[in-house]
Amino acid sequence: MRKKVTIVGAGATGGSMAHILQEKGYCDIVLLDVIEGLPQGKALDLAHAGPLVGSDARITGTNDWKDTAGSDVVVITSGSPRKPGMSREDLVNINANIVREVAQKAVQHSPDTIIVEFANPMDAMCHVAKQATNLPRNRLVGQGGMLDSTRYRTFIAWELGVSVKDVAAYVLGGHTDATMVPIVSHALVGSVPLRQLLPKERIDAIVDRTRKAGTEIVGLLGTSAWYSPAWGTVEMVDSILLDRKRILPCAVWLEGEYGIRSAFVGVLAQLGAGGVEKVIEVELEPDELAGLRKAADAVLELISLVKT
Ligand code: 2OP
Repeated sequence: MRKKVTIVGAGATGGSMAHILQEKGYCDIVLLDVIEGLPQGKALDLAHAGPLVGSDARITGTNDWKDTAGSDVVVITSGSPRKPGMSREDLVNINANIVREVAQKAVQHSPDTIIVEFANPMDAMCHVAKQATNLPRNRLVGQGGMLDSTRYRTFIAWELGVSVKDVAAYVLGGHTDATMVPIVSHALVGSVPLRQLLPKERIDAIVDRTRKAGTEIVGLLGTSAWYSPAWGTVEMVDSILLDRKRILPCAVWLEGEYGIRSAFVGVLAQLGAGGVEKVIEVELEPDELAGLRKAADAVLELISLVKT
């Protein structure tokens, strides 16, 4: 039997995730949304493409949680996206109510599921989902670092004129302009440390553009990005469903790692069939470590603004 993934929120991001997962072909997909017709229409359109994609994945569009029963993974994308002039943090109370209810229903209908949370402000919404479900840390993980890291890798590749495939670099910390921490000390290009290839001011400019990359897109499109967020999320789903045990940057509930406790912060984690199977604690430079701690403080401060 194929695995089952539910995507909550059939907007641009949810639709793109379904599209990518259909191509992968190893899971059935349920697209769920409160808007009537939207998930059904997208699911039908994708299903029509099945013979051309060469995919037998069953795609269901629904407004009914019952159709999500028994999902191996539930991805939460539902919530309001940003508009120009809004930060991700501005969405905190609008999306907290949605994420709280969605997380509870996800677990109610799929008691063994692993939740991948992506609604913004992502780190704070992970916290809301954890409070609402009391899931152990292996079963609730946030996507933000995958997206920020793919942007970081892209900018490095462009600057050096090399293949994106040869850039290994990641972003930890929070998924906000102020709290993300593009890690320079471990960034490699073709196994060569980035600092050997670029002067500090060029690296600083890349770090700065990475931090503001989501905002740059909102400025151009009038709403949040969806293609690269969808790809970032699917990489995580992939590692969980196929038990690939990849080491990926994602938001995890920390229990003392990096001196941080009881907060979701982007770290390197091993994702497999058990969800977050391990947090990889790496040696960071002092300013990078301080950045992670600042991200933890910021998410806890943001959570204190959430009205329950
Ligand atoms: C972004 O960074 C959607 O938060 C997302 O573009």
